[in-house]
Amino acid sequence: GAPVEVNISKVEPGQLIRVEWRGKPVWVVRRTEEILNNLATLDDQLRDPASAEEQQPAYAQNAVRSINPEYFIAVGLCTHLGCSPTYLPDTFGEQVEGVPSGFFCPCHGSKFDMAGRVFQGVPAPLNLVVPPHQYIDDGNVIIG
Ligand code: FES
Repeated sequence: GAPVEVNISKVEPGQLIRVEWRGKPVWVVRRTEEILNNLATLDDQLRDPASAEEQQPAYAQNAVRSINPEYFIAVGLCTHLGCSPTYLPDTFGEQVEGVPSGFFCPCHGSKFDMAGRVFQGVPAPLNLVVPPHQYIDDGNVIIG
């Protein structure tokens, strides 16, 4: 599959946009300062907070799992059996108390934070996949 260029300059804070890459959905989410601050508090609720277990780009092996912390880019497929998790920008706190936003997989209930890190006690074995990507400039990124 060819790389896909995405213009991210119009993504609003908190918004998620979807693009397709190699037949897979890829998400770009613009994270707020509040979201990033929340990520720093979650380690003990996560299965693999530093993404140490996974084959991932080096820039995904940290708490924010991105090159530019403001933008989270991930393949939008659950690492359990491949359903597409639902983005809950406002109501994720009903799934994990104290965590306002995240991703919930409707198939078997896996839960992921705003860096795609899987919470403990759910079927998904791994964090969401961060695809290889690079920035051309502040407003444009190439996936693949
Ligand atoms: Fe997502 Fe099973 S496919 S929890």
